[in-house]
Amino acid sequence: MKKTVILFAGILFLLGFISMGWGVNTETAPESGKDISIPASLDALYPPKAPAPVFLFKMIELATSFTAVGVNLFESDYDNLQGSFQRFKNVYTELPKMVPEWKEYFPEKNIIELEAALNSKDMGKIGPAFEKMGGVCLSCHAENQTIVQHKFQWDDFSNISVTDPVSGKDNSFSGFMHQVAFSYDGITTDLMENQIDNSRKHFADFKKRFTAMSESCDACHSTERHYYVDNNVMSMINNIGEEIGKETPDIKKIQGLAEGIGIESCYKCHLVHQPAALSQYKLRKSAGTE
Ligand code: HEC
Ligand code: HEC
Ligand code: HEC
Repeated sequence: MKKTVILFAGILFLLGFISMGWGVNTETAPESGKDISIPASLDALYPPKAPAPVFLFKMIELATSFTAVGVNLFESDYDNLQGSFQRFKNVYTELPKMVPEWKEYFPEKNIIELEAALNSKDMGKIGPAFEKMGGVCLSCHAENQTIVQHKFQWDDFSNISVTDPVSGKDNSFSGFMHQVAFSYDGITTDLMENQIDNSRKHFADFKKRFTAMSESCDACHSTERHYYVDNNVMSMINNIGEEIGKETPDIKKIQGLAEGIGIESCYKCHLVHQPAALSQYKLRKSAGTE
C-alpha cells in the first residue's frame, strides 16, 4: 500500500498540472504510435447494426465446441467427439468468411492437423494438435480481444455528457473530469498556501462535482454502484467537510483524507475504466474523427 501512496503523490502532481484546464494540446502533442484498427466487417456483427453481438456468440460457440472435444476425449467417447469436432470445424471455417480481414488468423493447416490427429485416436498426436489450436486462439486474442471489447462492449465515454453543477454548463466526460480534478486539487493546494477560505470554496465545488460524477455512472450502469462512489468514499468527503469547517483545520488530516479519496475513488476507478476510454480515443484518432 505504501508504494501506492508514493505513486499516488506523483499522480496528484500530474493531475494538478493537467487539471488547470489546459488538457492535452493535440496540435502540438507528438503523434501517437502506430495506428490501431478493427476490421470494418465487424461493424455488421455487433449492435447497433446487428441485433446482437453475433461475433461474440460465434466465439462462445467456438469455445464450447472446442472444450466439448476435450471433454469427450477425456471420456474416450469418440462418437460424440466427432459431433463436437464438426461443430467446432463449422464455426472455425465460417469465421474467416464473416471477417475476411482476419483470414490469416484461422490457418487451414491447424484444423486439418487437428482433424487428422483426432481421427488417429493417438494421444501423442492429439495433444500437440490441440495445443497448437489453443495457440491460434491466443495469437488473435492477444492482439485484438481487448480493443474489440473496448469498441463494441463498452459505451463510448466520448458520447457521455455531464452537466457541471458549478457552472451549469454541459461537458464531455473527460472535460468534466478536469473540473473534478481542479476542485479536488484546489482543496489541498490552497490549504498548503494557508488560503483556508479558497480551500473551503474548492471543497464545496468538489462535493457538488463529485455528486454529479456519481450520477453520471447511470449512463452505463443500471445497478447501485459500489466502491468508487460508495459510502466509504462519501464518508471521507464528509470528514473533510467537517475538518475544513473548523477555525483551524488540521491540514495533515485533510491531506490524508484527500489521498484516500484519490486512491479509493479516482485511481481505482481509472484502473477499471480508463483503458477503455483511451482505446476509444485511439480508435477515433486512427479513424480521423478526433
Ligand atoms: C481472429 C481473431 C480471433 C480468433 C482466431 C479467436 N478469437 Fe476468440 N475472440 C476474439 C475477439 C475479438 C473476442 C472479443 C469479443 C467480444 O468480447 O465481443 C473473442 C472472444 C472470445 C471468447 C469470449 C471470452 C469472454 O468471456 O470474454 C471466447 C470464449 C473465445 N473468444 C474463444 C476462442 C477460441 C476457443 C478460439 C480458438 C479456437 C478463438 N476464440 C479464436 C477474436 C478471436
Ligand atoms: C461509458 C460507460 C461507463 C461509465 C460512464 C461508467 N462505467 Fe463502470 N463499468 C463500465 C463497464 C463496461 C464495466 C465492465 C462490465 C460491467 O460491469 O458492466 C464497468 C465496471 C465497473 C465496476 C466493476 C464491476 C461492477 O459492476 O461492479 C464498477 C465498480 C464500476 N464500473 C463503477 C463505476 C462508477 C462508480 C461509475 C461512475 C463514477 C462508472 N462505473 C461509470 C462502463 C462504465
Ligand atoms: C468512472 C470512474 C471514475 C472516477 C470515480 C474518476 N474518474 Fe477520472 N476518469 C475516468 C475516465 C473513464 C477517464 C477518461 C475519460 C476519457 O478519456 O474520455 C478519466 C479521466 C480523468 C482525467 C484526465 C482527463 C482527460 O481525459 O484528459 C483526470 C484529470 C481525472 N480523470 C481526474 C479524476 C479525479 C481527480 C477523480 C477523483 C476525485 C476522478 N477522476 C474520478 C473515470 C473516473
